[in-house]
Amino acid sequence: MIFFLTFAPQFYYSMKQTVLSGIRPTGNLHLGNYFGALRNFIKMQHEYNCYFFIADYHSLTTHPTPANIQGNVKQVIAEYLAAGLDPELCTLYVQSDVPEVAELYLYLNMNAYIGELERCTSFKDKIRAQPQNVNAGLLTYPTLMAADILIHRAHKVPVGKDQEQHLEMTRTFGNRFNRMYKVDYFPEPVAFNFGETLIKIPGLNGSGKMGKSEGEGNAIFLADTAEEIRKKVMKAVTDSGPTAENQEKPEAIQNLFQLMSVVSNPDTLAYFDEQYNKCAIRYGDMKKQLAEDMIVFVQPFSEKIAEILKDEAYIIKVADQGKEKARESASKTIKEVREIIGFRKI
Ligand code: TYM
Repeated sequence: MIFFLTFAPQFYYSMKQTVLSGIRPTGNLHLGNYFGALRNFIKMQHEYNCYFFIADYHSLTTHPTPANIQGNVKQVIAEYLAAGLDPELCTLYVQSDVPEVAELYLYLNMNAYIGELERCTSFKDKIRAQPQNVNAGLLTYPTLMAADILIHRAHKVPVGKDQEQHLEMTRTFGNRFNRMYKVDYFPEPVAFNFGETLIKIPGLNGSGKMGKSEGEGNAIFLADTAEEIRKKVMKAVTDSGPTAENQEKPEAIQNLFQLMSVVSNPDTLAYFDEQYNKCAIRYGDMKKQLAEDMIVFVQPFSEKIAEILKDEAYIIKVADQGKEKARESASKTIKEVREIIGFRKI
């Protein structure tokens, strides 16, 4: 009994599953990032062995300047902290502080095939969006993401719906490595959301998802002011209104209802739904209500973000502490991977 009590906490810790996820520092975090990913991170840090990072290697595909990178990385650390990530509960780090990731990326690239990389939906979207900059980093984006996940041998990866295919590819690369070297080394990571399914938060411009690069006014950021939110929501795309009772909602309208479902209370949502079904809806009123509910939701974040950003020493301390912990886990994996591959011990 005494033996059990003495060793139980440590044993319990090692039994916890590992969680990993990241966000690119390509601008402020928006409600899509929050509801698709960050909200789960905050809950998971209490239950799992968690690694959350800022994907600054990934952001290089769009060639940011050094000043851009530095500013955006600090901003995302402040946003992670403001949203409730606790560096005492999880490991919060910057991807480029852990160069072991780049080494694993190299190994995984050796058996990632050009056909499967070219078929990846996010690659096809990117070459359409930036035909003047189709670099090798874009093509091998899924192997870098697999390296992020496999470097900590993670089991669960909280992400939004748009990352589902990348997770599938990560499992392919990990399993291929296991088969190639006849080992059972990498676990099969799964995309995770506390709700039933992975989610996609829509933007305000009528179609598609909320995103940093989906056009001006499409995203509501956690750092937005009340005025910015009002302006963007009032400009959201609508139509001339339903013409028959209980008519199916077109995408732009459905998007507004979905946004309302995450920030407003259920009675508000039910009221506007009823108005829509009776053909009595006034989109102006709905947008005003949506904007006010978004402001109430976002304001505590924006105030906290501004406060944390003033304390640069704290942000650096958090990143340094995260780097130590992340490198400890990553260097253990790299050492084992090198041995499995057959390299000399270094
Ligand atoms: P990124 O930076 O585009 O987005 C970060 C997270 O936010 C989620 N997300 C959304 N969820 C719901 N609705 C939306 N409109 C929406 N927009 C963004 C994304 O699904 C993601 O979970 N490749 C990743 C970053 C990354 C990563 C990783 C993630 C790099 N390595 C390893 C997990 C594990 C990306 O570009 O996410």
